[in-house]
Amino acid sequence: GAPDLPAVLSFTIALAHTAGALMLEGQRAILTASSSAVDEKKNSVDLVTEYDVRVEELVKSELKKQYPGYGFIGEESFAAGARPPLTDVPTFCVDPIDGTTNFVHAFPFSCISLALLYKKQPVLGVVYSPFLRRLYYATRGGGAWMELTDTNERVQLPIGGARPLRGLNEALLGIEWGSDRSPAAMQAKCASFTKLGGDAAAGGRMAHGLRSLGSAALNYAMVSQGGLDMYWEIGCWPWDIAAGAIIAQEAGGFVAGGKGAPLDNVVGEDVLLGRKYIVFRAVADTETEKGVDAQKRL
Ligand code: IPD
Repeated sequence: GAPDLPAVLSFTIALAHTAGALMLEGQRAILTASSSAVDEKKNSVDLVTEYDVRVEELVKSELKKQYPGYGFIGEESFAAGARPPLTDVPTFCVDPIDGTTNFVHAFPFSCISLALLYKKQPVLGVVYSPFLRRLYYATRGGGAWMELTDTNERVQLPIGGARPLRGLNEALLGIEWGSDRSPAAMQAKCASFTKLGGDAAAGGRMAHGLRSLGSAALNYAMVSQGGLDMYWEIGCWPWDIAAGAIIAQEAGGFVAGGKGAPLDNVVGEDVLLGRKYIVFRAVADTETEKGVDAQKRL
């Protein structure tokens, strides 16, 4: 049946804190070189550490104990060959360390990203960065929230309420380079960045600035809080975006896949087989349509 979202939320928030403590320990170990376990997954910039695997094992086993009937999709389990079918059953979708490169370099934008999918849609998202000491979470219909974990101060997102944006030319945009650095991919990405941020001559759509945080989940969190107006990336996986997407939607944002595809296609089975484009727009007015139109042209 339908999951009890408030109960799952308190369980997963507590679990995210436990995972966060392990991430802090892991970063200390990496910085003091007592853990040298940084491996290259697909190529020299797609990294995985001993702690990605350890955090996922911890989270997976706790979730299995508490919710034995629920499915589990995790970045490291997937990398190890697990290909569970995505069904209508409640299914956790977890990136144990989103922003692994940041984690390895002690750039503080890394987090755990934990979502619950129900009927293939994200209905709960928890994004916790122990380095930034920020917790972001949302449940379907329950709004999106940020907690400053030092003080337990809690604010509803977006901070200060939704603000209409007059155009891309007044926007601060999140973009990511991703790990595919092949010449063709780099050319396509650079062309998109140019259209988004530096192509004043081609229609005056020059953004105020472009930022790369290095964590998909925290890009979503930042748009949800109002710090970024949009986040654009090619090549996300479901565990990168599922938690961020529900947080963003609950904050009044708009999430779309390639060519404006609806979110069920973005998080759905086809994403488990191949990568998709993601675009996100923070304002729920006509600018949303423009954001999608702009993305379609990229
Ligand atoms: C990656 C990060 C990165 C984004 C990639 C993701 P990982 O996740 O979110 O910012 O550009 O698309 O795969 O590998 O650090 O968990």
